[in-house]
Amino acid sequence: IEQTFIMIKPDAVRDRKTGQIIDRIERSGLTIEKMEKCVLDEETVKVHYAHLADKPFFPSLVAFMTSGPVVKMVVSGLSAVSKMRTLMGATNPLDAAPGTIRGDFAVDVNANVIHGSDSLENAAIEIERFFG
Ligand code: GTP
Ligand code: MG
Repeated sequence: IEQTFIMIKPDAVRDRKTGQIIDRIERSGLTIEKMEKCVLDEETVKVHYAHLADKPFFPSLVAFMTSGPVVKMVVSGLSAVSKMRTLMGATNPLDAAPGTIRGDFAVDVNANVIHGSDSLENAAIEIERFFG
């Protein structure tokens, strides 16, 4: 059993997609262990996306992620990290397959509906960062 950190991003919360996204997570057999709606502060977002700090889109990414409430979660289950990444689809919604969360709900690489940890190691770090 693994735990991963998932966040429904401000665009999807604003568009009232939270319920449909949670439904997909639960239908895949994963369990929501913790869940909270909150507004992220700029510092937390900058640390969370520190690996992208030198990218040209970094300022717009920080502005987007602080533009409204997110729904943050700890999700658990067998292979939860990779299972969620598969369920989410590719980072760029243009490349995300139909049937994935990004493929079905996202149109914009900056506003791409959902975050999921990319490794077990980062999952532990992110769970501590957002729920510690
Ligand atoms: P997260 O789950 O949000 O971490 O996405 P990811 O792991 O699929 O991608 P990554 O960590 O590489 O990038 C984090 C976020 O930065 C993405 O979700 C996008 O919103 C944004 N991003 C990544 N690459 C690009 C890009 O080339 N252009 C733009 N505008 N945004 C990007
Ligand atoms: Mg990432």
